[in-house]
Amino acid sequence: MSELLALHGGRRTVPEGFIKPWPHVTEADRRAVLAVLEAARIADQQRVQAEGLAREWADYVGVKHCIPVNSGTAALHMCVAGLGIGPGDEVIVPAFTFWASAAAVLHHNAIPVFVDIDPRTYCIDPALIEAAVTDRTRAVMPVHIHGMPADMDPILEIAARHGLAVIEDVAQAHGARYKGRLCGSMGDAAGYSTQATKTLSSGCQGGLFTTDDDEVHERAALLQYFGERVVPGRERQDQQYNAQGLGWMYRGDMLSQAFVRSQLKRLDENNALRAMNCRFLTDHLSDVPGIQTPFVPDECEHVYYNYVVGFDPAPLGLEVSPRALRERVQAALEAEGVPVGQWQRRSVPAQDVFQRRVGYGGGCPWVCRASEVTYNIEDYAHANAFLDAHCYVFDVNPPNGLELMGMYVEAFRKVMAGLDQLLD
Ligand SMILES: Cc1ncc(COP(=O)(O)O)c(C=O)c1O
Repeated sequence: MSELLALHGGRRTVPEGFIKPWPHVTEADRRAVLAVLEAARIADQQRVQAEGLAREWADYVGVKHCIPVNSGTAALHMCVAGLGIGPGDEVIVPAFTFWASAAAVLHHNAIPVFVDIDPRTYCIDPALIEAAVTDRTRAVMPVHIHGMPADMDPILEIAARHGLAVIEDVAQAHGARYKGRLCGSMGDAAGYSTQATKTLSSGCQGGLFTTDDDEVHERAALLQYFGERVVPGRERQDQQYNAQGLGWMYRGDMLSQAFVRSQLKRLDENNALRAMNCRFLTDHLSDVPGIQTPFVPDECEHVYYNYVVGFDPAPLGLEVSPRALRERVQAALEAEGVPVGQWQRRSVPAQDVFQRRVGYGGGCPWVCRASEVTYNIEDYAHANAFLDAHCYVFDVNPPNGLELMGMYVEAFRKVMAGLDQLLD
C-alpha cells in the first residue's frame, strides 16, 4: 500500500509557510532604494541610477553599451530596431518562448518566422534554422529559455554565413554561460528582463539592452526616449523637442534600478545557490521511473530560472498520455505543498495573434510586403510535445535551500509511488 497522498487527505509534505519568496530582499537592498528617496535632489537620481546600472551591467556582461529600460520586451524591440530591421523583414524565433520575444519583432513591423526547439534543451534547434532562412531573413533570435544557454556556436556560424544579425533573448538567463561566454555577450545585441520573478529582479518591472556596436546603440537610444537623445534627469538642458524618428517611452525608473544594482552584487552567488538546489533535485529525481530531469550539456552553465520536469508514462507501463500523467501528478504535488505548475499553454505560433494575424490592423505587418510566412501549429512537434509533458517546479530560489529541495524530492517520490491513487 502506498502512503496516502495529501490530495486524498494524507499528510502534506511541505509545511504551509515554509517556502521563502523571491526576490529575497536584504537590508542592503532596502538601503539602496532608501538612498534614492533620501538624496538631496531626487530628480538627479534618474541619471545617477540609470548611468550606474548601465555601467555595471555592461561591465558584468563585458560589452560596450547598456541602456536600462522599463521591460525586457522594450529591450528586445530596441535590438530589432537598433539593428535596422524593418517592415516585412523576417526574424527567426523559437516556437517555444514567452511570446514577447516575437512581439518585439512585430513591434517594428517585422515578421517572426518560427523554428522548433531541441527536445533536450528546449532552446531553438540550430539544425532547423537554415531551412527557415529566406531572402527576407535579417536576424535570428535565440532565447536562453529557463536559464539554459542556447547552442550559440552553430547559430553564430549560420548567421555569419547568411549575413544575419543575432539577437539574444536573455530575459531568463542573467549570468548563464555557454563555453565560458556569458549569455548576452555573443550576439549583436541582447535584451534582458528584470521583471519581478527573474534571476536578476527589480521586484517589479524593468529591462536592459546591451550591444557592442556604436551604431546599434545610437539607434536604440533614440528609440528609447521619444526619438530624442536625452540623458535621464537632464531633460530641461538637453531636450530639443525635435524627434529624429519614431520613438517610444521605454525609460526605466530609478527606484527599481537602485534595487537591481543592489541585487546585481549577489547575482553570481544567488545563481550558484539556485544551481545547487536544482542539481540536488536532478541527482535525487533522475532515477524515479516516469520522471525526466533537465539535460544540461557539458558546455553550458544553466542558471535555472525554472526547473523543468518531464513525464513519460512508458517506463511505468501506463497506457495514459504524457499530458494526463503530468496533470494528475501535478495536482497531487500541489496538494503536497510543492509549487508546481504550467507556464506556456501553447506554442507561440499557435497563439491567436499569429493564427488570426492580428497585428497593427489592415493585415499589417504581413501584408506590407506580401509575406508568405505560414503558422502551422503541427510544424512544431517538439514544442507541442514539451508543452504536453512538462511542468515547472517553482521556488527553487535562494534563500530556499536543500532542506526544501529534500521535501520536494520526498513529495515527488511519494506521489510517483502512489500513482495507484491517481490513475484508474
Ligand atoms: C523569454 C522571455 N522573453 C522576453 C520577456 C519579456 O520581458 P518583460 O516581461 O520584462 O517585458 C520575457 C518575460 O517574461 C521572457 O520570459
